[in-house]
Amino acid sequence: MIQRDASTISLWQGNIEPFQPTMMADHNATYDVVIVGGGITGLTTALLLQEAGKRCLLLEANNIGFGTTGGTTAHLNTVLDTSYDQISTNFSKEDAGLVRESVGAAISLIQQNIERFSIDCGFDYTDAYLFAQDEKQTEALDIIAKAAREEGINITLQDHLPVSFHFTKAYKFTNQAKFNPLAYIYGLARAFEHAGGVIVQDCRVIEIHNTRHIKVDTTLGEFTGMNIVYATHIPPGINLVHLRCIPYRSYALAVRLADNSYPDALIYDMQEPYHYFRTQVIDGKKYLIAGGEDHQTGHHENTEQCFRNLEAFVREHFKVKSVDYKWSSQYYEPADGLPYIGNMPGQPDNVYVATGFGGNGMVYSGVAAMVIRNIILGKHRATEKLFNPNRIKPVAGFTNFVTHNADVVKLFFGKLFPAHKLTELAELAPGEARVVNYDGHRVALYKDEAGMLHAVNPVCTHMKCEVGWNTAEKSWDCPCHGARFDAAGRCLHTPADRDLEHLDITHDLSDVEEQVHR
Ligand code: FES
Repeated sequence: MIQRDASTISLWQGNIEPFQPTMMADHNATYDVVIVGGGITGLTTALLLQEAGKRCLLLEANNIGFGTTGGTTAHLNTVLDTSYDQISTNFSKEDAGLVRESVGAAISLIQQNIERFSIDCGFDYTDAYLFAQDEKQTEALDIIAKAAREEGINITLQDHLPVSFHFTKAYKFTNQAKFNPLAYIYGLARAFEHAGGVIVQDCRVIEIHNTRHIKVDTTLGEFTGMNIVYATHIPPGINLVHLRCIPYRSYALAVRLADNSYPDALIYDMQEPYHYFRTQVIDGKKYLIAGGEDHQTGHHENTEQCFRNLEAFVREHFKVKSVDYKWSSQYYEPADGLPYIGNMPGQPDNVYVATGFGGNGMVYSGVAAMVIRNIILGKHRATEKLFNPNRIKPVAGFTNFVTHNADVVKLFFGKLFPAHKLTELAELAPGEARVVNYDGHRVALYKDEAGMLHAVNPVCTHMKCEVGWNTAEKSWDCPCHGARFDAAGRCLHTPADRDLEHLDITHDLSDVEEQVHR
């Protein structure tokens, strides 16, 4: 099994072995493109550029698939979360057409890669159903359907659904798709290496120096590149894109059904937040994958409750035999409804970013790869302007881009926190966590299952918001821009790229005695 940025285990993660790179990186070489991030966006971009004759190096801080690619529910849609009527309103009718064309091309790219590289990842074209359950939803559904039909998507009105939900109106969209995202990116990774590309895992980028060439400082030494692509879900550092993307958590279950009534389609209701369903076969076993209960990262007190709500909802509509997997993952909603793909705001022309994919990360990853490839190859297309991250208007008084100071100030360095005092203050049961006030300081405490107390400074290393505890994932999550840290403060998710400050707890003899007698 591979690691993910979470303590829950996804269906994909639980059914795959760690990827073993076969090529060695050359510290003396100058790579044409250094790609940071080993998810679907990074690997697709790397493969396209390597095949176009560029020498590419992909750096991944953990293992490939560690981020949202390992936690997505992997729907491949041309009917998007931002509907075509919204895109027409926010941008233009022509732009809506361009988006439709781009996401169609992205699904075709996935299908072609699967065929070319014989990737066994359960890819299937399938129908999708979107249904309304009241008058207001029906009105909204008709607008969505009309705009999608104008973009050439095949849509038909339905009088039944492949699931037992009450509905007032339902449409079927053809030519949507699904697959196993980790099996797919493993195939991409092998194809990339076969084409001469290099993947380095467990290699965290610490800092970049952009002079004539880009010097990339990492935990495994320095690499040099002509271009750098941040495919890290949201880029590290402090950038305008962080102010234009809102982080959300989404929850998923993979369940086995007692009556084999697995729907052979993608299914969506229109509740707020909406629920989504589909079926996937892995190793001969069928699973119903259900998702929903989305909320802004760091804005929910009890994330375990989200799983309970989702499970209750699924049990209401399906005969559940067993809940085999439950997991959550993150996505970023862009302010104007379209992703930010291209030159990173405030950076030189050879620094690229792809972020803000909303709930359509699997298709926008392919769009991002094609847009960035074309820019780097000097092929200028209309999509370059449409998705340009610099379409964001600068915010008054905001410095466009601030690079990190590699030496994070250790605010509490040398200070000892007495365990017995903190224990008294927090009153934690094993597995619980809390931020407490101690001696004029805020202290984030977690008691592990063995009863050991762990203390970190709750100030996020990105832009200094205070992190909160995510009970479901046992992580410290930042409500501002979605950085996440494990219980010991280790950074799991950008935009932070430094761990939370670890606080030293003292256990003197009286502390120990007190704990023994408690
Ligand atoms: Fe920006 Fe924490 S993620 S302040």
